Amino acid sequence: MALKICCIGAGYVGGPTMAMIALKAPGIQVTVVDLNATRIAAWNSDTLPIYEPGLDEVVRQVRGRNLHFSTAVAAGIREAEIIFVSVNTPTKTYGVGAGRAADLRYIESVARSIAEHANGPKIIVEKSTIPVKTAETIRDILTANSRGHAFEVLSNPEFLAEGTAVADLTAPDRVLIGGERTPGGEEAIKTLVDVYAHWVPRERIITTNLWSSEMAKLVANAFLAQRISSINSIAALCEATGADVDEVAHAIGRDSRIGPKFLKASVGFGGSCFQKDILNLSYLCEHFGLPEVAAYWESVVRMNDWQKHRFSQRIVSSLYNTVAEKRIAVFGFAFKKDTNDTRESPAIAVCRALLAEQARVVVYDPKVPAPEILEEVVGKGNHEPRLSVAQSAYEAAAGAHAIAVVTEWDEFKTLDFARIQAEMKHPSFLFDGRNILDLPRLRALGFRAHGIGK
Ligand code: NAD
Ligand code: UGA
Repeated sequence: MALKICCIGAGYVGGPTMAMIALKAPGIQVTVVDLNATRIAAWNSDTLPIYEPGLDEVVRQVRGRNLHFSTAVAAGIREAEIIFVSVNTPTKTYGVGAGRAADLRYIESVARSIAEHANGPKIIVEKSTIPVKTAETIRDILTANSRGHAFEVLSNPEFLAEGTAVADLTAPDRVLIGGERTPGGEEAIKTLVDVYAHWVPRERIITTNLWSSEMAKLVANAFLAQRISSINSIAALCEATGADVDEVAHAIGRDSRIGPKFLKASVGFGGSCFQKDILNLSYLCEHFGLPEVAAYWESVVRMNDWQKHRFSQRIVSSLYNTVAEKRIAVFGFAFKKDTNDTRESPAIAVCRALLAEQARVVVYDPKVPAPEILEEVVGKGNHEPRLSVAQSAYEAAAGAHAIAVVTEWDEFKTLDFARIQAEMKHPSFLFDGRNILDLPRLRALGFRAHGIGK
């Protein structure tokens, strides 16, 4: 009998990770279930709910063969031997820990569903990013409702980055599996190791105890985000001194102990996870009586907030301290290139800050639909007459006083800036929040061009 896997949660993680397992392990039947019927319908259509380079091809190869998308959560639970939990774990917005702790309501609800519908032994795999010790909660709920079935809980956090998910899943730096060091736990770990071993070299599959695995995920994101805040803090100093932050990053990154990655100064990091996971880590530290450690990590988020604020302030001050009724073109809205995800995108903060100064903001993004841009900035159902969305970068920039590049989409590098400059107000300003453009060339075209940290 073919091994059956069910994944609860058909989001940015559940969809791509399960598609990769189905592709690489044709003998395993994989079903991804979600309560969101619209999302499931999209996974079953030609327009997938998430944009991710290479994902369409993978899904096309395996959907209907050994990859299925369904809203039948109970059936998915009953039929599978391994159940991945890949639901969202956002920052809590209410009650104790509001604004910092992880909201575990979806995790708990899934644990209760599994307990209710399980009809035999199951391996439950935490794929979602969760606070350390969450496996204990899941196990407690399952055991209290087990009706005699055996459950093993594993932690298998996901390290893919959006925009490169297919490449990351095809050749991960490592796969991390945490489990209990009991005979049942070891057996469950081996079952999951065998799934990944279909395509991941064994030496890249790390096994640890449950708590180390849960902890390592939060710490990985905290270290990555810390590098960005560190280089962004130095960007401010570069602007004050005449150093160029990209040259500084290049010079320090050549030290093999530091390494070149994640040293790109920017308008600030975005995405659904860095901020949420650091705040969660910091909250955990406080919970365990370590306020100094909590403050240390929280400063990474504070620096990021300041960086976003600094970028919009620089626009205002360069434009003679007033942007009221001036047209500002915002190039890019996704939190990074090659994704349609806008969660915690720095573009949101930049647009809001400019609107607060009564600028007329025109956004263009190649992948994010207009209604989503409007809703992210002003909230569902609200209308802001000064905010609009253009169909191209040229349309956004026509008649603008300034351009703010907020997402590093490749298409911005090949725009005809001479044409753009001719159609803008003069002097025409450009603020490259991603350092992707050739500033000397833009200056030669007549732009007052600024980068980050230069
Ligand atoms: P997402 O919001 O895109 O998807 C979560 C899905 O879970 C939603 O479609 C939602 O409808 C579904 N869901 C919630 N409760 C459910 C329930 N009780 N039954 C069935 N379905 C339910 O989230 P995501 O970006 O895929 O992230 C999921 C988890 O993975 C989070 O913990 C996140 O921190 C972590 N993570 C995300 C990324 C990333 O790049 N987005 C990378 C690594 C880890
Ligand atoms: C990040 C991690 O890289 C993944 O390993 C992790 O699995 C994921 O979070 C998660 O847990 O959700 P992601 O947020 O998708 O992935 O994308 P990143 O490439 O890490 O970029 C995050 C943000 O940092 C983006 O806004 C990006 O533009 C910014 N960034 C990144 C910089 O400003 N500078 C850099 O040098 C790198």
